[in-house]
Amino acid sequence: MDVEDIRSDLSEVLITEEEIHAKLAELARLVEADYPNEPPLLVGVLKGALMVMADFARELRIHVETDWMAVSSYGASTQSSGVVRILKDLDTEIAGRDVLIVEDIIDSGLTLSWLRANLESRGARSIRILTLLRKPDAAKVDVEVEYVGFDIPPAFVVGYGLDYAEKYRNLRAIGVLAPHVYQGE
Ligand code: IMP
Ligand code: MG
Repeated sequence: MDVEDIRSDLSEVLITEEEIHAKLAELARLVEADYPNEPPLLVGVLKGALMVMADFARELRIHVETDWMAVSSYGASTQSSGVVRILKDLDTEIAGRDVLIVEDIIDSGLTLSWLRANLESRGARSIRILTLLRKPDAAKVDVEVEYVGFDIPPAFVVGYGLDYAEKYRNLRAIGVLAPHVYQGE
């Protein structure tokens, strides 16, 4: 039986698996140097950060703990307000902790800006952000991002945790979705 290879839905591979892993190793060296004392708490943002978290955490040679949050924006109209709903909260008490938020992509920056403020209000000692990808619009919102993997063009990308309608998260590389996939929908 012929199965359709989902890689053929990409018009272009933007970042290969090898490039992703090399970059995560690079970022891991920076993070190790920045947290010499206590293990940071890595907070992954579900579901997109699934792969980044798994691979980045394994690149690290220091102790870390991991936890997850799931958030969603309050519909399209509130995108701009940056109001976010917590679908799954942390299991960990973060007062006094050094928190490193792990994200797949920062686009408008509203989600992360809200998340940083939310975690700050719980009394974390420090909060930093690591994102694998950053789009140009992120510059418009005042959110500090300490570790950035790749600055990419404003195209819609999928793979390596990033989805289109919940699909393509399992691609190893990151690519631009071909127009034939969403045309006619
Ligand atoms: P923002 O930074 O608040 O605009 O939201 C970022 C979130 O939007 C990410 O965590 C992704 O879930 C989603 N997102 C933004 N751009 C893309 C993309 O190109 N592909 C897939 N998801 C994206
Ligand atoms: Mg995300």
